[in-house]
Amino acid sequence: MCHIRSDSTDKTFDPDPNLVVGFETSDDAGVYRLSDDLALVQTVDFFTPIVDDPYAFGQIAAANALSDVYAMGGRPLTAMNIACFPCAAGMDVLARILEGGRDKLREAGVVLVGGHTVTDNEPKYGLSVTGLIDPRNVITNSGAKPGDLLILTKPLGTGILTTAFKFDKVSEGDLAEAVSFMRALNKAASTAMVKVGVNACTDITGFGLLGHSCEAALASGVTFVIRAARVPVMSRVDDLASEGILPGGARQNQEYFARWVHFDDDVPQYKRAVLFDPETSGGLLISVPEGTAQRLMDALAELGVERASVIGEVIPGRRHGPSVRVLAS
Ligand code: CO
Ligand code: CO
Ligand code: CO
Repeated sequence: MCHIRSDSTDKTFDPDPNLVVGFETSDDAGVYRLSDDLALVQTVDFFTPIVDDPYAFGQIAAANALSDVYAMGGRPLTAMNIACFPCAAGMDVLARILEGGRDKLREAGVVLVGGHTVTDNEPKYGLSVTGLIDPRNVITNSGAKPGDLLILTKPLGTGILTTAFKFDKVSEGDLAEAVSFMRALNKAASTAMVKVGVNACTDITGFGLLGHSCEAALASGVTFVIRAARVPVMSRVDDLASEGILPGGARQNQEYFARWVHFDDDVPQYKRAVLFDPETSGGLLISVPEGTAQRLMDALAELGVERASVIGEVIPGRRHGPSVRVLAS
């Protein structure tokens, strides 16, 4: 985990008028207009193995890479593998990782068009994904409006559970819930939000719920109110966090985003860490007009997104006020 974004190094070059979404607002994917009603949506993501099972890791990496396209309401079309692998580790392991990725792409209806592997001491895998979107209907992280409700579509805790597993604090069975959520596509959630129409969306990944909430609130010029007790969390996660079993990224996120987040006094310390847990392939955080929220919840349920919850609301931004305010309940 590191807070240097490779997309933020050079913001000075001439903007292209067809670059509909670039990197100014820390959005999920780039959008490049081809014609009035057609644009490319592009993203890339890869990381070191988060679980021991190479096939599951491949599935998770693919679901995670596709997620940025889903978060913008786009339709992923093609993907390319990016892999780093030590020669000594056995090519059958690499083959299993790639199979996991391939099968997840199949499930998503996305075509694998190629890829590239280099030798490296530490294995890494991910994909670059290209999709299509109507440039007039891009769902960015900057469209949240006061009066919106905030809906999260997956429970939190993948960082805490995978860390706990590394330190033998949970069983393979406890980890299974995290694995099943990490490899679950955000496709159904994206389809539901595109169908009903929403104001903003981002997916929850390394910066945690509160980090990505900060980015979206700042980009939208509003304040997000998050009600901690309503945020869905995977089983064991609260207990593990109160025992202090946390990934380094949870603490880094907490430090980095502290100046934008205000916690009410009665929000427990362990809960603050959970809300900053770095997620892998987390859910979508959707900002939806209050009058549309129930229709969105119905559409999510209909499409099998079972753990979606209303976790808060959007209020006007205040100069010098926090971007995210966290209430206990
Ligand atoms: Co994202
Ligand atoms: Co983001
Ligand atoms: Co990403």
